[in-house]
Amino acid sequence: MIPQDFVDQLLSRVDIVDVVDRYVPLKKAGQNYLACCPFHKEKSPSFTVSPTKQFYHCFGCGAHGSAIGFVMEYQGLGFVDAVRLLAEGIGLPVPEVRSANLQASRQARERQTSLEDLMEQAARHYKQMLKQAPEAVAYLKGRGLTGEVAARFGLGYAPDDWQGLQTIFPNYLDDRLVEAGLVIENEEKRRYDRFRGRVMFPIRNQRGAVIAFGGRVLGKGEPKYLNSPETPLFEKGRELYGLYEARQAIRERNRVLVVEGYMDVVALAQYGVGYAVATLGTATTGEHVRKLMRHADAIYFCFDGDAAGRKAAWRALENSLPQLADGKALYFLFLPSEHDPDSFVRALGPEAFERSLDDEALPLSSYFVRELVSRVDIEAAEGKADLVRMAAPLLAQVQAPALGFMLRKRLAEIVGVEVDELDQMMGAPRPQRSGRRSYRLPEHSERLAVTPIAKRQLRWLLMNPQWAVDVNLPESAPLTDDMACLATLAEKARESETPPTPAQLVESLRGTPYEGLVATVLQNAMQDPEEFNSPTDEARQQFSEGNRKLLDLLRTAQLEELKRKERHEGLSALTPEERRLLLALLSRDGG
Ligand code: UTP
Ligand code: MN
Repeated sequence: MIPQDFVDQLLSRVDIVDVVDRYVPLKKAGQNYLACCPFHKEKSPSFTVSPTKQFYHCFGCGAHGSAIGFVMEYQGLGFVDAVRLLAEGIGLPVPEVRSANLQASRQARERQTSLEDLMEQAARHYKQMLKQAPEAVAYLKGRGLTGEVAARFGLGYAPDDWQGLQTIFPNYLDDRLVEAGLVIENEEKRRYDRFRGRVMFPIRNQRGAVIAFGGRVLGKGEPKYLNSPETPLFEKGRELYGLYEARQAIRERNRVLVVEGYMDVVALAQYGVGYAVATLGTATTGEHVRKLMRHADAIYFCFDGDAAGRKAAWRALENSLPQLADGKALYFLFLPSEHDPDSFVRALGPEAFERSLDDEALPLSSYFVRELVSRVDIEAAEGKADLVRMAAPLLAQVQAPALGFMLRKRLAEIVGVEVDELDQMMGAPRPQRSGRRSYRLPEHSERLAVTPIAKRQLRWLLMNPQWAVDVNLPESAPLTDDMACLATLAEKARESETPPTPAQLVESLRGTPYEGLVATVLQNAMQDPEEFNSPTDEARQQFSEGNRKLLDLLRTAQLEELKRKERHEGLSALTPEERRLLLALLSRDGG
């Protein structure tokens, strides 16, 4: 664990402009710096680095973050390693990390690079081998692939030899071959190639580096697909096959399609549906969804029409719920059970496929309700109660205010109650705590009245931490998640001697319950180039007014709540503290 204070100190010492410039030469443009984005292919620069906010953001692909985030993304490092690398760069000793560890982390990084080199060499070798393997070429042709699309995805062939890789790696005893997952060592210490007699699909990370392979047998055989194991380069739950190749198309169409198979991605691309990616024989994770939401506003899941495909779709929905953001839409397309995307597009063509996407894909909200309703006897009161019971823990994970409300509204309509009543049936939202103080959450929420303002305030505060002095939310008040987050951020900003940069503020919430909320707010803020310029006086004034308004709304909500309690349960039900509060609020209300 790296202490939060250290992260803060680090971010106050490094300048994101220097950090990025080391990897991607920057040009000054107005208040900011510009370059062509290292995370996607582009001809004119839309990658922006702000020295005042200490953020980078690409207006093309949506990638954004702090200096730490940049190093994580660019170098493919975890948080701790990225922090170490940055600290090392400015000679700042990382607490509780001895110099031996520093050394170790540098070595780990060098090893990572050298593993990437190995993978690249292997990919080139497999590609070369494909040219000399008529049976593999015939197989791919037989499946309808053109040479062009095979080249685009760098497809290759691993000949059916036990030590085929020895031809390019004369030192077959090199341990990195095992570490990279290319070579297997058995109990007798005998070594042999993992991939033999298979068509090879290289899997690339966001930078385009080959980090793993999927290999398919020619024709029948078990397993049908063999994948690289998890290695220092490859974590299945984070990577998506074809994302690197699809980036341009995803951006152009502002949509991304998630399918199950390598072949689906390649076949769709061949037919001009270039925005498809595949999970790697695993369920769709929250991390996958988060990653995809950075690239497009609409995510379509299209799984096979069989039972396994349906199960996979529901898993994808469950894992998506915490990631949902207003302004992003998720859809689910179920193909006829005899088809997968590959066979569908070949049989019916890309127009028919895209028409299905446009006309038949279910929005997440519809699929959510339809699936849950199908599990109960919706005509019976017991069935309705079951429905609410099943939905509650799922809905509790949704952070997106508008979408969350719409989901609850749909459900309420089906059950035949009001949204408030549904909320009561499901119990109050879980408290979210962070920071030193714990801000109380409302029992009956005024969520909707306050949330849009709170969100806007949150965004402003994030981008302008020096405004924290204006935020003054009473600790005793029933705060929504948004407001509690706002209060926590303001407190963090006020705590430090000099106002933190937005990047410091965001990083201070890493690992707290507010991380997701802040990521969503930030993602929205980043779409607006204006956010990268100095704020206007008018914005500053609106922020002050917003805080007054929030405070008013809070007081009203609090007053209503206390009055309600007093009306229903009598004055004696109020604690002395609540009575004092009620009196204070009433006198303010009157005067
Ligand atoms: P499918 O079995 O649906 O295969 O596996 P497919 O995509 O239709 O493949 P083709 O058309 O027969 O070539 C879907 C995905 O599940 C993973 C792979 O990622 C595959 O693309 N999988 C499948 C494995 O990892 N191992 C297997 O043995 C099978
Ligand atoms: Mn298939």
